[in-house]
Amino acid sequence: MNLNIALLPGDGIGPEVTQQAVKILNAIAEKYNHNFKYTKAAIGAAAMKINGDPLPNETLKICSEADAILFGSIGEPVHDHDPNANIRPEQGLLRLRKELDLFANIRPVQTYESSLHKSNLKEEVVKGTDFVIYRELTSGIYFGEKKISKNEQEATDTCTYSAKEIDRITHLAFKAAKSRRKKLTLIDKANVLATSRLWRKRVQEISKSYPSIQLNFLYANTAAMQLILKPTQFDVILTENLIGDILSDEASVISGSIGLLASASIGEKTALFEPIHGSFPKAKGKNIANPLASILSAAMLLDHFQLYDEAEEIRAAVEKSIELNITTPDLNATNYFSTTNVGNFLSDFILDDENTFYNKNNIDLGQSTII
Ligand code: IPM
Ligand code: MN
Repeated sequence: MNLNIALLPGDGIGPEVTQQAVKILNAIAEKYNHNFKYTKAAIGAAAMKINGDPLPNETLKICSEADAILFGSIGEPVHDHDPNANIRPEQGLLRLRKELDLFANIRPVQTYESSLHKSNLKEEVVKGTDFVIYRELTSGIYFGEKKISKNEQEATDTCTYSAKEIDRITHLAFKAAKSRRKKLTLIDKANVLATSRLWRKRVQEISKSYPSIQLNFLYANTAAMQLILKPTQFDVILTENLIGDILSDEASVISGSIGLLASASIGEKTALFEPIHGSFPKAKGKNIANPLASILSAAMLLDHFQLYDEAEEIRAAVEKSIELNITTPDLNATNYFSTTNVGNFLSDFILDDENTFYNKNNIDLGQSTII
């Protein structure tokens, strides 16, 4: 298959982790005879340094013309602490989501048998966790009107949802539930918010077309507790933009590291794949960032083009690296591997058919990992 992939490394650790994802995609291309071409483009603080714009027109054009987008991360501390800033790096990503109408953000959360003990939660609580969050991504309070009064004594953010915006992601979530454990939980604040009450109405209505799916409702505050009390109760979670942002970060602690969570943002046109973690500025340039979330996002990219075997191959390699503790400091505090060496291991694992013998000294030296 020929794929034109727009590469948007972004800020902080984005470039380092994306580089490893490309390494893994190239290993897959070599093994399965695909032709993946990459076009790099600037976004976020990195783009602002060039001409002040966090989403240059050129980048938007490259993204619109690509088959898929692989995105790193966005945000830089200098912009975080200035409440007066009119332009922020994050606006680049938000505008890109809006322009490409990437309305469904899909965030799978699962645990790995070999790393259950790495979670801050009890092993018996997280064991068997396997759910996916469908987060609405192009509407709600993120995109409603915002204003601050002249005397700066009052500020307003508006949250609006249309039935159409709710319906399209709801159908995707129900379809996902059909191919999973047939359970869908809508998370909202219907006891307080009008938009949440519209979500409930629409979702209830749509559920009639999916009789095999068990539908539940949870308030976001209760869901925040239930997620860590009993994460195994969830299958498909459907929620709006802001609640989805918060709960998916919370959910990331279940698996032991936010560095493991991948995501896909889907719309009608080009889809975007990105780790859910941020730009982790403190780790920038240190070769310690976990590349697995970016690599697993690349696997979701392959799934999107029905390259299921290839995606599975990446997931198997990732599982192997976790099993063998070939992981970065977030998962392996004492005897950790660098970002690059985790990538090298996975690439070698994919390309080597025998993959029987792992030479730890070689991995440490950053050499070929399989001999
Ligand atoms: C995410 C991020 C973004 C969001 C930020 C960078 C604007 O946290 O992708 O979850 O809030 O959506
Ligand atoms: Mn987030």
